[in-house]
Amino acid sequence: MAPPRKKLFIKTYGCQMNVYDSERMRDVLAPLGYEPSDRPDDADLVILNTCHIREKAAEKVYSELGRLRAHKDEKADTDAPMTIAVAGCVAQAEGEEIMRRAPVVDLVVGPQTYHKLPELIAQTHRARGERLETEFEPVAKFDALGGDRHVEGYSAFLTVQEGCDKFCTFCVVPYTRGAEWSRPVDQIVHEARQLASKGVREITLLGQNVNAYHGSPPAGSEADGPWGLGQLLHHLARIGGLDRIRYTTSHPNDMDDALIAAHAELDCLMPYLHLPVQSGSDKVLKAMNRRHTFADYARIIEKIRAARPDIAISGDFIVGFPGETDGDFEATMQGVREINYASAFSFKYSRRPGTPGAALPMQVPEDVSSDRLQRLQALLETQQSAFNAQQIGRRLPVLFERAGREPGQLHGRSPYLQAVHCKAPAELIGKIAEVDIVAATRNSLTGALSAEADAA
Ligand code: SAH
Ligand code: SF4
Ligand code: F3S
Repeated sequence: MAPPRKKLFIKTYGCQMNVYDSERMRDVLAPLGYEPSDRPDDADLVILNTCHIREKAAEKVYSELGRLRAHKDEKADTDAPMTIAVAGCVAQAEGEEIMRRAPVVDLVVGPQTYHKLPELIAQTHRARGERLETEFEPVAKFDALGGDRHVEGYSAFLTVQEGCDKFCTFCVVPYTRGAEWSRPVDQIVHEARQLASKGVREITLLGQNVNAYHGSPPAGSEADGPWGLGQLLHHLARIGGLDRIRYTTSHPNDMDDALIAAHAELDCLMPYLHLPVQSGSDKVLKAMNRRHTFADYARIIEKIRAARPDIAISGDFIVGFPGETDGDFEATMQGVREINYASAFSFKYSRRPGTPGAALPMQVPEDVSSDRLQRLQALLETQQSAFNAQQIGRRLPVLFERAGREPGQLHGRSPYLQAVHCKAPAELIGKIAEVDIVAATRNSLTGALSAEADAA
């Protein structure tokens, strides 16, 4: 007999790895009768999949829990009470504090224990047993999540690596996601094949440090050690139906020659690389424990551009790290001018309890950081607009993902990850077609289907 139907609402914060995890939580809960819902008020189970990276991100959870309390109270005396779970990196970092500060929460589950959700929910309903589960068990997690994946759309995330051993002094990830760990090649191939068989055309391999990937080689392989990301990409490129592969996020120190060469060798590897540098000042990079100089970074970019001249480079920056002077910030501005980014994210340093950065002297005043962030973002926006404008007049293959905002229009992505709007028939959703780019803004391109367009 099928289990009774229940409604599940998941709210996802933070990075793409959380997006992937939320999808997998949906998969794990589906056999229990949980069906996705897009509103929290009438849900039987609400999961907040949280992010701890900056203070603002973490605080959002508590305000959301405040709002949820009203819904939970309303349903308290009905025959369908609401269960509230907090998952993700805030759960890992401050599980006990959540339980104390927000009694509305029924259970707390860290990023490595989602496979235990069915058991934890059952325990909660019996009102006994563990309500806080934050062990680090990536092996068990991925073994248990190995089952069928429900897929929507034509572009999917696939986590291949979790955790981080780099310990940048500003960052919580090594504490919330645990030690670096790579999934075995066979497991990844199995999942990628399953995605392709369900119509997925593009996969993005995910990891907090995806290019540090070193997974067990496939059964029967003669490799005497783990495979790197370059090898994994070559292997995945052979899966029929997967036309586009991407990966994120990378660390400069793990950008090895095999991976750089893959950008020259594999047509399906999209010409886009997110490679954060954080700062242009060697003094700041050292204090951040990034273990490379800006010149090292620039050399890597040069090599990648030699392998794939049209590659779009993206990055992350932090301004106002403790001790950052005007001169250090100018070095960042100069570095950005030197690299010339297609897109980038930039943040004001957020002091995270428990990280070495939080204890450093010379924290930068808020108004100084704000001013620097504004200047940096203005420069990055100019570069992004210029990169987009360069596409005008080019013919680009676009993977159409869904209907666009205007009638008759579709929304897709260029190889460089730019959003593309184009008038096209709905049959092209899920297909790649050639588009002549006619206009560009900072955030998107507009194009017309090429007259000779032959959708693949
Ligand atoms: N693993 C990736 C980044 C993960 S976090 C890497 O090594 O680059 C994503 C981005 O958030 C980081 O690149 C950094 O720019 C930013 N970030 C991380 N911790 C931060 C903090 N304490 N304050 C401000 N920004 C931060
Ligand atoms: Fe955080 Fe640094 Fe690890 Fe990236 S490499 S996740 S910034 S500690
Ligand atoms: Fe946030 Fe955790 Fe991702 S802290 S950025 S959700 S790894």
